[in-house]
Amino acid sequence: MIAGLDISVPYLEFAKRRFSSCGRQPVFICGDAVSEPLPQSHWDVIVLASAYHHIEDNRKIQFLSRVRDLIGRSGYAVMAENVLPDYRINNEADYARSVRQFYSQVLNTAKKRNPELPVHVENLIYRVAQYGCDGEYEYKVSLPLLHYDLTSSGLRIVAQKRVWPDDDDTSLGNGGNYVFVICSST
Ligand SMILES: C[S@@+](CC[C@H](N)C(=O)[O-])C[C@H]1O[C@@H](n2cnc3c(N)ncnc32)[C@H](O)[C@@H]1O
Repeated sequence: MIAGLDISVPYLEFAKRRFSSCGRQPVFICGDAVSEPLPQSHWDVIVLASAYHHIEDNRKIQFLSRVRDLIGRSGYAVMAENVLPDYRINNEADYARSVRQFYSQVLNTAKKRNPELPVHVENLIYRVAQYGCDGEYEYKVSLPLLHYDLTSSGLRIVAQKRVWPDDDDTSLGNGGNYVFVICSST
């Protein structure tokens, strides 16, 4: 079985259109990734595409522990995630600085790729950065914190690759877009 879960109906409608020409139709489920019941208790592979950073900090370990339970000892999870440059823990101003640093690079890259970037896209990038600073809907963390949450949830990284920015670009320190392959640590 293939299933797709999201809390937002418009996102699910978009996914349905994207998958409409695929041979095997996924089951689409609308609900909270931390608590929504699923049709199976074991999954061979779970893909977490930019999901973890939308889960509030106090539910992140619950979320990842659930992933750990659902893949069991034989499954894998592939996690695509945005990671902030390091910041001082429990320091709101430094956290906001890190969020702005991240999104300023997002904007730079977008403008490099499209010098005529539409204003509404630029404004969207500013808006999402503001959500991150305000701790509203966006709860990105740094690489050490993400590693800590994975370990605390009984998960182990099998492979880790930063896919943006390029390896020789140091503008975000160890921040950026990553793909992790993870499995149970036991
Ligand atoms: C950045 S988008 C990624 C969408 C899609 N996974 C993709 O990669 O194209 C983040 C998604 O997380 C969903 N989301 C946010 N909080 C959620 C939650 N608690 N449970 C399930 N989905 C959630 C949003 O509705 C949104 O579709």
